[in-house]
Amino acid sequence: MDQFLPTESHSESVEVCLDPANAATDSKTSTDASDAENRSVSPNSASGQDLRRIHCDPDFWYPVAWSRELRRGKVIATRYAGHPIALVRPDEGPVFALEDRCAHRQVPLSKGRVCGQSVQCCYHGWAYGRSGRCIDVPYLGKGKLPNGVRTYPVREQDGLIFVFPGDPEKAAATPLRRELAQSNNAAYKTRRFGRHVACHYSFMHENLMDMNHQFMHMKQMGQMRPRFLGQKREPGLVEARYSFARTSGKQPLGEALIFGERRDASAKYADRDVMTIRTEYPFQTLRIQTGDEAPVMDLWIAYTPQDADQLTNRTFGLLSVKKPGVPGLLDLAWPFLVAFTERIFAEDREIVELEQKAWNELGGDHNQEVFPVINALRSLLAECGVQPGASTPGSSPQEASPPSSSSQGREDAAAAPVSRSDAPAPENVTATRAKPESRSSKRAPSAKRKAGAAKPDDKPT
Ligand code: FES
Ligand SMILES: [Fe+2]
Repeated sequence: MDQFLPTESHSESVEVCLDPANAATDSKTSTDASDAENRSVSPNSASGQDLRRIHCDPDFWYPVAWSRELRRGKVIATRYAGHPIALVRPDEGPVFALEDRCAHRQVPLSKGRVCGQSVQCCYHGWAYGRSGRCIDVPYLGKGKLPNGVRTYPVREQDGLIFVFPGDPEKAAATPLRRELAQSNNAAYKTRRFGRHVACHYSFMHENLMDMNHQFMHMKQMGQMRPRFLGQKREPGLVEARYSFARTSGKQPLGEALIFGERRDASAKYADRDVMTIRTEYPFQTLRIQTGDEAPVMDLWIAYTPQDADQLTNRTFGLLSVKKPGVPGLLDLAWPFLVAFTERIFAEDREIVELEQKAWNELGGDHNQEVFPVINALRSLLAECGVQPGASTPGSSPQEASPPSSSSQGREDAAAAPVSRSDAPAPENVTATRAKPESRSSKRAPSAKRKAGAAKPDDKPT
């Protein structure tokens, strides 16, 4: 649902050859990038290693579910990079996150039930509180409670539930943008959308930032000429700016809704708007501005790795569209805008999954990237990511330290599965006592595992 402007050849702009056979040699860019950058071709990866084998840095906040998925008094199953996570919304207080494996026999806690401030396993009834400690075994005395499970720091914001899968000590100091897209701005209407997509997260970043793939969206959008205005590279950030001109075809209704006006291919609309796409690790944003005014569209999007090899992701997007002058008009037109963005996203998903499939079949990344900003993006993702064998969240059951007698008493009081009225733990940044564990992923990714990893679409809203 990203780009709005198909591409055709144009000097002074990102030029894409309409003949795919010649695309690599005929493409030109006129940018603030150097000539050397323009000539650069990355046959395998930006940093000499295969980008698709690099894992997301777990020391960031990652969305794992929409708030609306988790009702009060319920527990659901989510996942980060092969780590099953149970999200619990207790009867009172904020959400908490536990490793989704009972310490007893590894049954998913998400199959259990919420009792007051704790979650009770469905099998033998062991109960776990916010701290991850086992606080009740129905057939044992309180003095003999076994160890518990790992916990994850949690934040809930703008309709999303985030976990911090890395070092919990770093969670509190790791910022999360205060407002995602324009989700709290009454001047905008915000769509929340998402999908499970069967590809490495880097394909998603590349897809959104490379406007040249408008070629693929020509059927949906008509012919548009993007002009690359320049890029910005800072630590942890790559940004690309474009303007656009329609060269033929009718403006699609969905695009007219975003711009708040009908536009034809006349010169007065050419290169009037600036689209800024930014990867600010690990998230992406896309804004469209007309002049100095507030953006007409503001997108925030995240790609949370799902499987251990990180070759599937769950996409979480917030798309804010500025309301036009006529009250209620955008609400009326919303179904058209949803349908339009769904069609675009379906094309994007199909193509990135094909890219992943080719990578699987070839056993690696044989890409020849020719667009400087995408090479900059690939470098960024490689630099900010981590090696598969690096320290990552533990993949085996983690054991909480046996509680001291004093803390045990408090936990029992706060979280036993019988109805209690104690106040919930204050804020969501709950430290784990789990030791991070190394995981080796030197083996080639299994196509079988990947094929089964994609899940049905989330419901569009
Ligand atoms: S497996 Fe959870 S209580 Fe036995
Ligand atoms: Fe696209």
